[in-house]
Amino acid sequence: MITACSTPNIALIKYWGNRNNELRLPAADSLSMTLSEPCVEITVTESDRFSVSSNNKEMKDKDIERFQKTVDLIKQYHPKVQNTISIEIDSQIPPGIGLASSAAVFSALAKAIAALADCGLNDEQISQMARLGSGSAARSIVGGFVALENTEDSAIARQIAPQDHWELFDIVIAPNTDHKKVGSTEGHASAWTSPHYKKRITDITERRQQECIDAIANKDFEKLMAVTEEDCLDMHHCMQTQDPPLHYLSDETYRIVDELKTLRKTQHLPLLYTMDAGPTVHVICEAEALETVRAYANVQKGCKVFEASVGKGAHLV
Ligand code: DP6
Repeated sequence: MITACSTPNIALIKYWGNRNNELRLPAADSLSMTLSEPCVEITVTESDRFSVSSNNKEMKDKDIERFQKTVDLIKQYHPKVQNTISIEIDSQIPPGIGLASSAAVFSALAKAIAALADCGLNDEQISQMARLGSGSAARSIVGGFVALENTEDSAIARQIAPQDHWELFDIVIAPNTDHKKVGSTEGHASAWTSPHYKKRITDITERRQQECIDAIANKDFEKLMAVTEEDCLDMHHCMQTQDPPLHYLSDETYRIVDELKTLRKTQHLPLLYTMDAGPTVHVICEAEALETVRAYANVQKGCKVFEASVGKGAHLV
């Protein structure tokens, strides 16, 4: 029996769209900050038959199928990993806070499966296993600031700066939403139908990913802000113009973003915003802005608020 713990990450250069949907091979590189919390623990046990259970979620057939398919793909691509397992999920991720649990879940799962197989897999290989379950999970294997870089036939997670390199925070402001959103997996599959998508891939490949790496290396917040917000708005522009269109941002998202822009302008605060596949606003800030952002977040009516710093990535417990 092996237990691994992992956390979500927040993408600064977003992963959107694949060159191979089944293997979740991304069309472009991406870059994220691994979060310190909330944690998901996954326990895998050698067993006669495959099973999955969760402490806080009723597992639907399609959820179980996703786990089964991930484990099958892992066995196919990593022949040294062949155990039949039962999976227990113990998640501390509160529902509805706009922190996708799949990155934490599938990175913890890959870490645990690799340890159970005990065949000397390194983090690069474990990250490739995690990607088979969820593209963004490949990045949560590693702590600190992490690039997911395409190679000819794979994508490799690389730590571009360690956890203690830059003290940044993610204040997550989640407006209430009744909308049932289309999941990322489905959205990725039609990314190429947006007329703006090709340019997005070119911009990331030729410029944005490197600008973000440089901004982090130099702890240049202004530069990080410019490139992160540009990439976030570009991803949502692509989402909104793909077929069928995906409108993840709500009126509340736009209101919060506008107010944050005013706040940073009037008070000269190092803060930036970014949104994933939902209306939740992630406010990334330096320590200097933390109190103000926290105070702002806590008075937003009907919003759930969550706070994290930079995390260490998936690990065994
Ligand atoms: C917008 O990793 O959630 O959050 O592979 O289908 O699980 P699946 O997709 P997922 O996609 C993440 C999309 C994003 C951007 C990002 O995290 O890079």
